[in-house]
Amino acid sequence: MNTSQKLLIQGIPDNIPEPVAAVCRSRLLTAVNKLLDETGLENIMVIVGTALESSSSTFEKNNSQNGQDSQKKPDRDLSPEERAKRYKAQEPLFTFEQLVIPEKVREDLLLAVDLIQLESKVFDKWGLRKIEPFPRTALNFHGKPGTGKTLAAHAIASKINRPILVASYAQIESMYHGEGPKNVEAIFLAAEQQNALLFIDEADSLLSKRLTNVTQGSEQAINSMRSQLLICLEKFRGVVMFSTNLVENYDKAFETRVRNINFPMPDETCRREIWERHLVKELPQAPDVSSEKLAEVEDICGRDIKNAVIDAAMRAARQGKEKVALRELLESINSIKKARVNVTPGSRPLTPEEKEEAEKKIKEALAKKKQESTS
Ligand SMILES: Nc1ncnc2c1ncn2[C@@H]1O[C@H](COP(=O)(O)OP(=O)(O)OP(=O)(O)O)[C@@H](O)[C@H]1O
Ligand SMILES: [Mg+2]
Repeated sequence: MNTSQKLLIQGIPDNIPEPVAAVCRSRLLTAVNKLLDETGLENIMVIVGTALESSSSTFEKNNSQNGQDSQKKPDRDLSPEERAKRYKAQEPLFTFEQLVIPEKVREDLLLAVDLIQLESKVFDKWGLRKIEPFPRTALNFHGKPGTGKTLAAHAIASKINRPILVASYAQIESMYHGEGPKNVEAIFLAAEQQNALLFIDEADSLLSKRLTNVTQGSEQAINSMRSQLLICLEKFRGVVMFSTNLVENYDKAFETRVRNINFPMPDETCRREIWERHLVKELPQAPDVSSEKLAEVEDICGRDIKNAVIDAAMRAARQGKEKVALRELLESINSIKKARVNVTPGSRPLTPEEKEEAEKKIKEALAKKKQESTS
């Protein structure tokens, strides 16, 4: 430990939300690990964090300690039970009544709730576990960002009066080879031990098709996490919910085990109701504020509406106004919409096939360049 050198990366702004910072740390560590593999450098401790809190994520190459607390057991030696202690369930933050979705989606969710509640009766008491040992209580909420997937996961947990254990892909994946699958196992174990519903956010990578022609360690790591996930789904007795944005990439093995529920962008009726839910009665509103008028603004998701209400209220308060007016709300939602529409085209994440193809081309180009420079 004392002999290792430190590589300090202090690139994450202090004020960005923790889930985003977690993804940044994870991506940075992955990139640096790859780089170190290529350079063959050893005994380097990589520390990624903000300027204020530089040790928020640490990875030590070729060293068993994780650098944060040398008294602690090295991560890789943790038993599944010890690892599971890291994941704590919480009380659900939202209720079913807060969720505004088309009737068909609501029915699908309520059916899922019924299945969860009736599982023990039908499968254990009525013996159907003999013909279906693993009833499908794995759900996948897929849809565009901000359409209510996370809200729905909490809503289901609160409907059946159980805590929810939230884990994101960024928390599960790990720098160490073999750690990712162990983390997958640990979250399932933690959920079972705490009798919690498991919610795996940003699960696109986990549920995507397993990669063929695996050449890199990182690809292998993803594949083994996916295989571990299948094993856990097979034996898990609880309820697991995933949230994804891109449905077309699913691995066939998951498709047969997971019930998909699509979260559409809200139509005018749903938008009106979402506006009404977010324009809470304590918020002083000018008489011209009308959810009908606001609902006419198309192509916006629930999160846009929430952000517009907050933005308009903040602006009104800053300007010393006592009430929020329709004009402010319309200005906020239109500027949020404009900002979102501007970044969307072309920013779609690559599918695994496209990624594989792109990486193949990069490798070919690099090999060609190397060949040219040596000849
Ligand atoms: N269908 C909805 N009904 C009511 N409120 C909604 C709905 N969709 C979004 N919202 C509002 O937007 C917020 C963010 O939504 P949520 O986090 O559930 O989106 P998400 O689908 O999980 O997005 P992401 O894919 O980015 O994780 C909610 O807390 C709520 O205030
Ligand atoms: Mg979400």
